[in-house]
Parts: sequence; C-alpha cells; structure tokens
Amino acid sequence: MSAKLGGPVICPGSFDPVTLGHLDIFARASEQFESVVIAVLQNPAKSNLFSVEERMEMLKVATAEWKNIEVTSFQGLLVDFCKSRKINAIVKGLRAVSDFDYELQMAQLNHQIGGVETFFMSSNPTYSFLSSSMTKEVARYGGSVDQLVPTNVAKALKLKFGN
Ligand code: PNS
Repeated sequence: MSAKLGGPVICPGSFDPVTLGHLDIFARASEQFESVVIAVLQNPAKSNLFSVEERMEMLKVATAEWKNIEVTSFQGLLVDFCKSRKINAIVKGLRAVSDFDYELQMAQLNHQIGGVETFFMSSNPTYSFLSSSMTKEVARYGGSVDQLVPTNVAKALKLKFGN
C-alpha cells in the first residue's frame, strides 16, 4: 500500500443504523487516509430508531478491526466540529446520480462557510441500492437484513422490532 493521505478525515451521518454500504466506504477511506473519524449527528429534531449511543456502539463494534477509525458524535454545524478537531476534509459515498445534487450542495456549502473540502467515493455497486431507511423498512416487516447490515446491527434490528 502506498503512503496514506494526511488525515484525519470525517465521515458524518445519521447512521440509523450503519449499513454494509457505509462500512464499505469507511474501510476504503481508512485505506486511503491516515485516520477516519465517524461522527454521528445528534439531531433531536429528527426521530431516529436508535439513540445516538446505540448507533455509536453499533458503529464501534462494526469497525473494531480498523485501528485508524474512531467513532464519535457531534451537534451543530459540521464545519464547526471539523474546526474544533482540526479535520480538513469530509469523505462521503455516492450511490447514484440521485445522491449527487444534495451532496454537491452540502459540499459547496461546507467549503464556502468553513473551508472544509469534501472527497466523494463511488459506492460499491453491490450496495448502491442500500439505505438505512429501506433497511429499517425490511426489518420492520420481518424480512431478512443479513445481507444489508453487519451482524451486530441485524441482531439489534431484530430486537427493536421484536422479530
Ligand atoms: O446521514 P445523513 O442524515 O444524510 O447525514 C447528513 C449530515 C449529518 C452529514 C448533515 O445533515 C450534516 O452535516 N448536518 C450537520 C449540520 C450542518 O452542518 N448543516 C450544514 C450542512 S447541510
């Protein structure tokens, strides 16, 4: 492996819950960058299935094998959190063109208001259909999510929905 790019970089999101698509991006970012901070947004305005603590715990278990990955949470503006942690860049996965408009807008905004760069990684096509919300929908109605999320998350979903 050639030298890694300077870090840390941040992968922000709701991760309600983390999916195999997210994990693929984290793993590839951890290959490319010195260190990766996964940051769960604390957003009381949004009703999430899992608490911030539950989401962080699931992320920690699912990323335990990567020693340069840290899991944390943040509130407020992402660019302010980046500044407080001396993080210069955001890493995001793009699944399809439909992600692009919103992600481009956020990237441009974060650059304009905070000087923070965003690097986009193309998602693994195996997971390009995958989202946290669709995963919850499948789990809610008792479908199998074993191909969609890490084992610990599949267990947590079964417990949450009592199936
Ligand atoms: O997984 P999500 O919900 O699509 O992640 C969105 C997230 C957390 C990256 C974005 O909402 C965010 O950065 N929120 C923090 C508030 C902020 O900085 N807003 C301005 C940029 S949209």
